[in-house]
Amino acid sequence: MKIGTPLSANATRVMLLGSGELGKEVIIALQRFGVEVIAADRYADAPGHQVAHRAHVIDMTDGAALRALVEQERPQIIVPEIEAIATDMLAEIEADGLVTVIPKARATQLTMNREGIRCMVAEELGLPTSGYAFADSFDELQAAIDAGVGYPCVIKPVMSSSGKGQSTVRNAEELAQAWEYAASGARVDSGRVIVEAFGDFVYEITLLTVRSLNGDGEVETSFCEPIGHRQEQGDYVESWQPQPMSSAALDRAREIALKVTDNLGGLGLFGVELFIDAEDRVYFSEVSPRPHDTGMVTMVTQQQNEFELHARAILGLPVDTSLRTPGASAVIYGGVEAKGIAFEGLEGALATPCSEVRLFGKPESYLRRRMGVALVYDESVELARTTARQVAGKVRPTTD
Ligand SMILES: Nc1ncnc2c1ncn2[C@@H]1O[C@H](COP(=O)(O)OP(=O)(O)OP(=O)(O)O)[C@@H](O)[C@H]1O
Ligand SMILES: [Mg+2]
Repeated sequence: MKIGTPLSANATRVMLLGSGELGKEVIIALQRFGVEVIAADRYADAPGHQVAHRAHVIDMTDGAALRALVEQERPQIIVPEIEAIATDMLAEIEADGLVTVIPKARATQLTMNREGIRCMVAEELGLPTSGYAFADSFDELQAAIDAGVGYPCVIKPVMSSSGKGQSTVRNAEELAQAWEYAASGARVDSGRVIVEAFGDFVYEITLLTVRSLNGDGEVETSFCEPIGHRQEQGDYVESWQPQPMSSAALDRAREIALKVTDNLGGLGLFGVELFIDAEDRVYFSEVSPRPHDTGMVTMVTQQQNEFELHARAILGLPVDTSLRTPGASAVIYGGVEAKGIAFEGLEGALATPCSEVRLFGKPESYLRRRMGVALVYDESVELARTTARQVAGKVRPTTD
């Protein structure tokens, strides 16, 4: 493993596709190793753009534009940060043999569409998931529910993220609205949805799983302590680490994560989302082949946070997933619809012991846009969670 000098002929060049708050941290972690980083996103001045060596605004779902940028910048490594990418073009670029796609182009193809990853995990690997079916029309959806998925159930566009277009349906009367809502939230206007039986789980976790090379150059898999989280409208509002689990459930969670990430292959960090029910049964939900939003808590809880782990893994370096301290994160929302907002109350927030705040620097705020995060470590996750919510609440977005 060799790393060159950035901005020189022998530079190690990495291109981020998607440069939000998670990409920004990956970029910083890469730059600490002297990597030259190129950041791409669909809009100007994205968080990662602001810390990269070079920034580009492109439509990443446009295969030709993607290839042109790769040919212009000639990165050795491409790191997708989002799902909405022309993944077939990534597969072509990978097949040309000049660029490594993290973790593999196939993983980005499988996870950009819920159908790909769900069928791989449930049908090919035979791992437990909630009951599910796919539908292309309202009638097909109704039929799938009547034929077995039942109520309550969750309807999601096959191509969407962050809870967009997702709703829970309790009875037949609510179905038409859920179908309409799914159509409005889909990333691609395919009209196809997945309907999942509503999982009666007690808690849900993200199991950050890292595929990296050990000192002998062999691939090894390591797990972070489980991260618990709470979601509202399909989007995470707070997370904490470690989530207490029975050792049986933890073993099972690791077994599922190992099988899924073995199948996806390549190097990097994965966020494996799992549900755990009252009988301690573990169900696979979905996987991000990249750092996970709920994993931002690792910025205070781990020796090497999820972004550093990803950076190390993709550079072929060894990793350490150990926990330093229990901790929690709480999201800071925009609360206003405006460009160029400001944040007040940071003095008060940061006067709290063992706390940190990250502001992402997004150029435009929406009511429910994630603009920052509060991070707190403490002796227990309960204490950390309470304090993290308080710290987040003290940061006030303003248009003045
Ligand atoms: N079948 C289900 N039963 C119960 N709750 C569910 C089910 N599917 C999803 N949820 C809830 O909704 C949340 C978001 O679902 P999911 O992760 O599938 O959506 P997403 O749009 O991919 O979100 P993200 O991109 O933020 O991970 C889950 O974390 C869980 O809390
Ligand atoms: Mg999810």
